[in-house]
Amino acid sequence: MKGLVLAGGTATRLYPLTLVTNKHLLPVFDRPMIDYPIETLAGMGIRDVLVIVGGKSVGDIVELLADGNAFGLDLTYRFQRGALGIAHAIGLARRFVGDDAFCTVLGDNVLLGEPLADVAAAFEASPYGAGTLLFEVPDPRRFGVAEFRRPDGSPADGTLDDDQLVRFEEKPAQPKSHFIPIGVYFLRPGVFDVIERLVPSARGEFEITDVLNHYLTHGGLFWRRYRGRWTDAGTVDSLMVASRLAAEDAERGVLPPPRGVDGPR
Ligand code: G1P
Repeated sequence: MKGLVLAGGTATRLYPLTLVTNKHLLPVFDRPMIDYPIETLAGMGIRDVLVIVGGKSVGDIVELLADGNAFGLDLTYRFQRGALGIAHAIGLARRFVGDDAFCTVLGDNVLLGEPLADVAAAFEASPYGAGTLLFEVPDPRRFGVAEFRRPDGSPADGTLDDDQLVRFEEKPAQPKSHFIPIGVYFLRPGVFDVIERLVPSARGEFEITDVLNHYLTHGGLFWRRYRGRWTDAGTVDSLMVASRLAAEDAERGVLPPPRGVDGPR
């Protein structure tokens, strides 16, 4: 399986922090934000990773991550012109991916506590064309939100094991559950044809939720609940939460040291 990290976008929700630098370079506790998704992919046993860059300070991202050797990875870079959304950025990986399955992680997603090598292997062994991980959040309105039904067709909130995932809504005013797809997407090359047929949303972006919804109605979607701790770090509040979660893990001795740092500092 190959890997993809999306590190483009304009990050206006973090202004003025991101007026002159790239969001993914900001500190989350003791390391740059982008280290977390890179480590997430490395933890799945993935070695070949494409980093999609865009927006400010793109050269600094390349300088920071270099060839990926410090993470045990082999990194390639591609530039995304404009902020056209997650699905558009994934579309830029077509040549890199070739015939392989791949895992995409958003550059501002911080996953702590649950190793994902087994989930990645389960997706690869499955017949599904796409997959994601669901996580329960208190305020789902700023995410994609899952809608569920009971096996008998009645509405459900996603808390029961046999609740069936029906569709996702991107940033709904009235969320139908507290479960959101986090920024981890397991995909196969068939996704590129799906992306080519997408139309932009009202906010002018090619939405990953439209891709996931396509699979929910055509062939099914692989999904699992994420049992670790998760946050994005794309707003001022969530950036603080991300640092706190990482600091708590460090305090408990379960956060691996940043690459290049061996002993106590
Ligand atoms: C994106 C996706 C959303 C997902 C979220 C996870 O939102 O569009 O479906 O739940 O990432 O971080 P964004 O934060 O880019 O607006």
